[in-house]
Amino acid sequence: MKEITLHNKRFEVSISENEISDIINSMANQINNQNIERPLFIAVLNGSFLFAADIMRKITIPNCEISFIKLSSYSGTESTGEVNKLIGLNKDIKERNIIILEDIVDTGITLEKIISLLKQQNAKSIKTATLLFKPDAYKKNIDIDFIGKSIPNDFVVGFGLDYDEIGRNLPHIYKLKK
Ligand code: IMP
Ligand code: MG
Repeated sequence: MKEITLHNKRFEVSISENEISDIINSMANQINNQNIERPLFIAVLNGSFLFAADIMRKITIPNCEISFIKLSSYSGTESTGEVNKLIGLNKDIKERNIIILEDIVDTGITLEKIISLLKQQNAKSIKTATLLFKPDAYKKNIDIDFIGKSIPNDFVVGFGLDYDEIGRNLPHIYKLKK
């Protein structure tokens, strides 16, 4: 479907399922070519669950692992600027090469928080892979190592991303209609 309604707002297709798949293949190739030793992927739930599932099937690095954490700063269509605590990391990450998997980096507040919490646990290296990036909303200076696609500052939903918890199941990524 080209257009959908979620909570009485209209959305239109922005990135198709096929394009998402091409983007993820190319990100996986970039990561595979980096020679990262025994990487521990850390996927940030809930938004990155589909991205993580799809990219992991394309990762060919031997002995890679994946773990999941949760930390959210969002309610409605605008970032609240508040961040919660990191939940779910029950693994020793000391001396590990971490690759954070994010669905989207908007202001960068969430990413900065996650990186600072992981650094406290003495990870060996921390890289970030995000499916989507909003350069015009980004307020931080942290370099993002792998960016799937940079998008304008529109609210998007689908492929894991939600609008007040709905829309995560959509295979395409939709943007709010203006
Ligand atoms: P940040 O802290 O502002 O970078 O926001 C990061 C989190 O907010 C992401 O992990 C998403 O869960 C959520 N988010 C940011 N932009 C959007 C959007 O356009 N649609 C849905 N969720 C979003
Ligand atoms: Mg998220």
